Amino acid sequence: NEIYAGGMSGVPPRFPMTFAELEARARAAMDPSVFSYVAGGAGEEHTQNANVAAFRRWGLMPRMLVGAAERDLSVGLFGLSLPSPLFMAPIGVLGVCAQDGQGDLAAARAAARTGVPMTASTLSAAPLEEVAAGFGGTPGFFQLYTPTDRELAESLVHRAESAGFAAITVTLDTWVTGWRPRDLAIGNLLPMRGRVLANYMGDPVFRSRLARPPEEDPVAAVLHWAQIFGNPLTWEDLPWLRSLTSLPLVVKGLCHPDDVRRARDGGVDGVYCSNHGGRQADGGLPALDALPGVVEAAEGLPVLFDSGVRSGADVVKALALGATAVGVGRPCAYGAALGGTDGVEHVLRSLLAEADLLMAVDGYRSPAELTPDALRRVP
Ligand code: FNR
Repeated sequence: NEIYAGGMSGVPPRFPMTFAELEARARAAMDPSVFSYVAGGAGEEHTQNANVAAFRRWGLMPRMLVGAAERDLSVGLFGLSLPSPLFMAPIGVLGVCAQDGQGDLAAARAAARTGVPMTASTLSAAPLEEVAAGFGGTPGFFQLYTPTDRELAESLVHRAESAGFAAITVTLDTWVTGWRPRDLAIGNLLPMRGRVLANYMGDPVFRSRLARPPEEDPVAAVLHWAQIFGNPLTWEDLPWLRSLTSLPLVVKGLCHPDDVRRARDGGVDGVYCSNHGGRQADGGLPALDALPGVVEAAEGLPVLFDSGVRSGADVVKALALGATAVGVGRPCAYGAALGGTDGVEHVLRSLLAEADLLMAVDGYRSPAELTPDALRRVP
């Protein structure tokens, strides 16, 4: 209604209304190496494309005479009451996606405006304390890339706790960077440029490992970061991860039901079904196809989901397949590129408005009413 009202007074919408247009406009606005880092994936990008295509193989079944004039999209997660089932997936280069280099802060302000929680990545251009300061009353999650330096991991988690984050999400599928031809072709892996390492460069433990402070020798600091970045954890490390925090602990990157059961037995508070948007391993299954098995194995534990969500219809389908909350990845990066806080807010509000309208038309009043029965396989 806001957009149509604007149109009536001669004010055209500021941002694109489809993902395709959003990506095209972002491409024109962004530094080419940043765009290819965001848009690209692993290998021939089959997994990345399959993530999106998987949603098209499900069709929503409309129900009539439900009178779904009132909808309530709120969900409960880790004891929090969220106004909608959306959250922002962690995006490590969000900072440099925005024209002013402050995309993390833009997303944090968009979280404050919309009530959609942001997952702040370890790889950010602004320190986690500054990101959290932008959340307003909206809860936020901190995503940990676990370094080999355990004291540094502990320091990052404790800083996140002190900064007021509501949960810790540990990403398990990225202790090494996947084979990414677009980045390989230009010889540029964005984090290696040092601009999204604020959480490390300001950390007392990280600094104590350097011969000279990063301000004096930035190259040595980045090289040290590259050495300690990824820890190939095993199940034996799960008790240690669990012991790092009393906050809700989520593990990201689970697709196999056995891994979900093992994580649940290890005391995690939520599992996050994702294949990293197809950025890490090509030749994989669409994350959406793994979701039902993850939900079943989770046995009531919250299930977060991302990978391929591009529209409100996608959000509704992921909920119907059992996701507790649905993560938005690349669209937020493009929103930040096109309009900072306003751009991210536009992306989130558009997804929510479309999901809400779809539920109105199709007769579903709440996420709880969206069950697998709302879906049919498209032949
Ligand atoms: C990511 N993703 C990611 N995940 C994570 O746990 N920590 C991170 O720092 C990042 N960084 C990151 C950067 C960029 C540019 C992208 C596109 C993605 C993965 C992200 O959280 C999410 O899993 C995917 O974005 C989901 O796929 P789609 O829906 O964006 O295609």
